[in-house]
Parts: sequence; C-alpha cells; structure tokens
Amino acid sequence: MTLSNGIRYLATPGPSVMPEEVLRAMHRSAPNIYFGPLHDLVDGLIPDLKRIARTSGDVAIYTANGHGIWEGALCNVCRRGDRILALSTGRFTEHWSEVGARLGLIPELIDFGRRDSLDPSRIEEALKADAAHQIRAVIVCHVDTSTGVRNDIAPIREILDRLEHPALLMVDTMASLACDRVEMDGWGADVLLAGCQKGLMTPPGLAFIWFNEKASAARERSDMATPYWDWVPRTRPQGFYQYFFGTAPTHHLYGLRTAVDMILEEGLEAVWRRHEILASAIWAAVETWGEGGAMELNIPQAHLRSHAVTAVRLPGGGKRLQDWLEANVGLTLGMALQIGGPDDPRSEGHFRIGHMGHVNAQMIMGVLGSIEAGLEALGIPRGEGAVAAAAKVIAEGAAG
Ligand SMILES: Cc1ncc(COP(=O)(O)O)c(C=O)c1O
Repeated sequence: MTLSNGIRYLATPGPSVMPEEVLRAMHRSAPNIYFGPLHDLVDGLIPDLKRIARTSGDVAIYTANGHGIWEGALCNVCRRGDRILALSTGRFTEHWSEVGARLGLIPELIDFGRRDSLDPSRIEEALKADAAHQIRAVIVCHVDTSTGVRNDIAPIREILDRLEHPALLMVDTMASLACDRVEMDGWGADVLLAGCQKGLMTPPGLAFIWFNEKASAARERSDMATPYWDWVPRTRPQGFYQYFFGTAPTHHLYGLRTAVDMILEEGLEAVWRRHEILASAIWAAVETWGEGGAMELNIPQAHLRSHAVTAVRLPGGGKRLQDWLEANVGLTLGMALQIGGPDDPRSEGHFRIGHMGHVNAQMIMGVLGSIEAGLEALGIPRGEGAVAAAAKVIAEGAAG
C-alpha cells in the first residue's frame, strides 16, 4: 500500500512544475527551421522576454543552462586577467566567481554569510579600495537559491554611481525572474541572467542574457567572446540561424512561448503577488512549527527572504523528513545547500522548499499538510497549528 500514487509535486527550487499547457505546446512534430511560423514566434518572444525582465535593452537566447550563461555573460564583457567583485550570500555567486576564475578572470569574493543579505558598507569599501578602477564587473545573485536570501540590487548601483566606479553590475535572476519583482532598468543592472526552468516554467535547456548599452560597449573591448557565446549576432542576426548559432531549440521555444503567454496573461504584478502570498504562508507554518521544536527559517528577516524558495533548518531531522515525504506522499523537497552543501555534515537535516512558477495555494497547503504528517510520523517535536497559520495567510491573501 502507498499513499504516494497520484500527481507528484516536485517542490524543488528548479526545475519547477511545468504546466500541462507548456508540455502540450512542446508535444508536436519538428517544424521548419528555415522560414515560417517558428521565425515569427522568436521575433515575438524577444520583446516579451524584455517585458518580463523590465528592460529596454537587448536579450540573447542560448541553448544552455545557468552555468552556461554564467560563462557566456562574463565572456562578452571581460578580458582575460580582468578583476571582478563577487558578492556572495550563498553557493551560487561563489560558483559563478569560480567559473570566472577558470576563464582567466581574477575574482575578489566578499562573503556575507549564509543567513543574511548584502552589507552595502562592505561593497563600498571594496570599490573605494579600487581607485584604479580595475574591477570590471560586480557579480551578484538577486536570489541565492541555496540560502533563500533575496538581495536588494538598486543600492549596489547607487554605490557604483556615487563612487563614479565604471564596473558593470551583473545580476543572476535565475531563481527570481517571474517570481519576485525583477526590474533590470529600474535597478540599474547592466547585465541580467536567467534560465527557463524556474519562474519561466519550461523544461531546463534555455537561458537568457539581457544587456544594456553600457554592457554593449564593454563587449567591444572583450577578448573572450567565443563564437557560441558572442551576443552580437544573436541580437543583430543576419539570418535566423544566428539567433541560436545553429539549429534553434525548437520545442523549448514552443514551451517557452506558452509559458510567457501564461505569465503575461496573469500579469507580472499578479504573478509576483501570488508568489509573495504563497511564500508568506510557508513562513507562517515554519515559524509555528519552530515554536515547539528546532525548525527554523534560514533567513531570519522576512524582508530578505525570496518568494520563490525557502531554506529551512531542521538539525538532524530534515533528511529523514525528505525521505519520508518522498516515499509516502509523493512530495519531493529540495536538498540542503544552505551551509556547505548536501555532503557537509552541518547541512544534515536542512532542506529547501521550491515554490516557484506554476504553483497555487492548494499545492502549498498540500506541501505543508504533508510536512505536518511527516513530522508526526517521525515524532519530530514541533509547535501546534502550523497548517492553520498558513491557511489564515492564504485566506487573507485571497481576500486581497
Ligand atoms: C541562482 C542560480 N544561479 C545559477 C544556477 C545554475 O543553473 P543551472 O543549474 O541551470 O546550471 C542556479 C541553479 O539552481 C541558481 O539557482
């Protein structure tokens, strides 16, 4: 006997749940890539991708994942030996800076820890110390998916401007685009990155780089833009094949078109608000469980938390809980990455809940009710009333 048969919920922070509409749009035979509707589809996607990133800049589409466009973005704007400043609030900016080092760049990493956001004074100090303006780019994750922190990006632009420092501001929005408020131009970001497998609700395989004129000027002095990563032909194509430097990722494009239509139909502001309410419901539940046990939100301050992924600390219990949920109720939670990584003994017991993209209130209530069942089954001490606390948030949110 099992209680896990039925629709499984992959509540991991990417890949996220894919809408049936997206999957159906992809389920078709191969299209003509030389002319016809596929070309129109791509021409139409480009302005819509810019709307979602809130920019009037350019966007290049790649057949790639997040690791790919980390490399692609740096290649377009740097020269080998350039210095970059990496602002780390979790593993992902760290990894991006390691990619930079392997490309021949010289990263300087400021570590803000695993439970907090950026400290502007330390960023200012590092940039002030660079009087010769050797730092070419500041790289940062808007949301670091490993810790669940959401960083404020506009203050970094304010510091750069105040110091008249010319470094580019490059922002990874892999885990926030179409979930949390992202405003590329409003923030003053020069380069923005994202993939399709989280808020954009499409199977992994596409990734995007948005860039403004300042980043285009940096492209002129770059000596690392290899043919595949070069964003110039992809954004100024002489023929359709240049959009993708080869065969177009046809079926992903159909899926993405449908996902983007769904997002724009709901409205970006409504999408952001939905994520905010659902995230608040999860936090209310975790806080209530924490009143009678060891469970704790990784990011203590609510205004610094992502609305798309929540990292939870449950020393000694989380792995058992994940295994129980997987085996018994058909729910997959994200593994712990917030400390050293899944193999770090200090991570033992922590977990993450992905609540990004195609997620609604009943799915979140199902996740929380299932966790309650798991805690009960495993005899893990906890506060009473967590699911009711979440239900209250949902009820209030639904009422507007
Ligand atoms: C913030 C962030 N950046 C980059 C990546 C890397 O993306 P990928 O796994 O598609 O290479 C991830 C993956 O989860 C991420 O969350």
